[in-house]
Amino acid sequence: MKVFVTRTIPPEGQALLAQTGIFFHGAIDHQLHLLLLLSSPSALPPWIGSPGYISDWPTLSFLIGVENREVLVFWKPVAGRRHDFLLCLASDIGDKYQSVTSFKLEQWDSDEPISREDLLKGVAGAHGILCLLSDKIDKEVLDAAGSNLKVISTLSVGVDHLAVDEIKKRGIRLGYTPDVLTDATAELAVALLLTTSRRLPEGIQEAKNGGWISWKPLWMCGYQLLNSTVGIIGLGRIGQAIARRLKPFGVQKFLYTGRRPRAKEAAEFQAVFVPLEQLAAQSDFVVVSCALTPETQELCNKNFFQKMKKTAVFVNVSRGDVVNQEDLYQALTNGQITAAGLDVTSPEPLPTNHPLFSLKNCVILPHMGSATYGTRNTMSVLAVNNLLAGLKGEPMPSEFKL
Ligand code: NDP
Ligand code: DGY
Repeated sequence: MKVFVTRTIPPEGQALLAQTGIFFHGAIDHQLHLLLLLSSPSALPPWIGSPGYISDWPTLSFLIGVENREVLVFWKPVAGRRHDFLLCLASDIGDKYQSVTSFKLEQWDSDEPISREDLLKGVAGAHGILCLLSDKIDKEVLDAAGSNLKVISTLSVGVDHLAVDEIKKRGIRLGYTPDVLTDATAELAVALLLTTSRRLPEGIQEAKNGGWISWKPLWMCGYQLLNSTVGIIGLGRIGQAIARRLKPFGVQKFLYTGRRPRAKEAAEFQAVFVPLEQLAAQSDFVVVSCALTPETQELCNKNFFQKMKKTAVFVNVSRGDVVNQEDLYQALTNGQITAAGLDVTSPEPLPTNHPLFSLKNCVILPHMGSATYGTRNTMSVLAVNNLLAGLKGEPMPSEFKL
């Protein structure tokens, strides 16, 4: 079996991958020879650590334990930023491990995105793919992978970069990373909302560039959460976590919208389910935290912004395509709304000469909602565990219901 990983992933997931991923590469008889030699773990052979024992696999990297088994991992850098691993069990090879250990790992081992060409080449013949939200896994990629493919694991909760219908049609299982990033993303959403509504980037600039001449009664004033109405588009995991964090600021009323009311979840915030137009018209702060789907594509458009209060602040932490950016630009420049904070844009990265970057009342971040070391590591471990469970035909820790 072959697994293709489209990027270097955070260290904890990477380590898990290196422990478990692996496999037949090079001369099979060498490997069988090794397995035989190591079948008695109490008598590990003296040549362990001797580079060159297997000419095709010169580096004995480390000896690790996997579920009480001792495992030898050989590592071989391969040209083209790819690493292959060869793993040999030091004890009984007869049970379920045998099938798990029979795959070859190929990885685009870089922090930079893989090119489309290398992606199409890399996935060829793969049984499993671990990808990022920046990898568009469409029909072309699925065709390039071919009929072996049985599992895709994405290092994200959003699945809008994946051709979900096509994946379902082909009977491929899909793993994703919900929950583990909810808190980090909600925290960033609150930070972005305050940064935008209290004009922090402008204030920092003014303090630095000499615009700060004296304390003035209305200079640098913004809007505050106390006694406000907050409208949340998508009261899902992240939407609820945002409301939970905003409530202690003294928010008077929460409104929300979605496909249907979520009475149980909304009760915690006494949030009221309203149509989108009503949310736009009554909210002092609008926070977008819904999934990007065909129904939510450009949900926030001219019509939406025209209904918003002139004093309202708009924040988006979902996906850039939920917003019509041209309409947002107009709304920000002609005073239809007061300010916008965007963690996500379309495209990503947003070109540095994009008109939105020229506006003082628009704060743009480079899609960093889940960007804490802890969260990204946890996401990577979950993504690898989803991948491995899928390859073994076992229940995934987080499987996306297709
Ligand atoms: P959930 O599935 O828990 O929530 C998704 C929400 O989207 C639900 O409340 C759902 O509402 C809503 N939704 C779906 N369709 C519509 C619709 N037609 N109109 C309005 N709302 C709709 O997902 P999470 O909260 O975990 O994540 C949400 C999204 O946030 C992700 O899909 C991803 O795009 C984005 N995200 C961004 C991050 C960042 O770094 N900025 C980090 C993590 C996630 P209902 O089911 O009630 O209809
Ligand atoms: C996701 O997971 O969908 C985010 O956008 C990045 O964490």
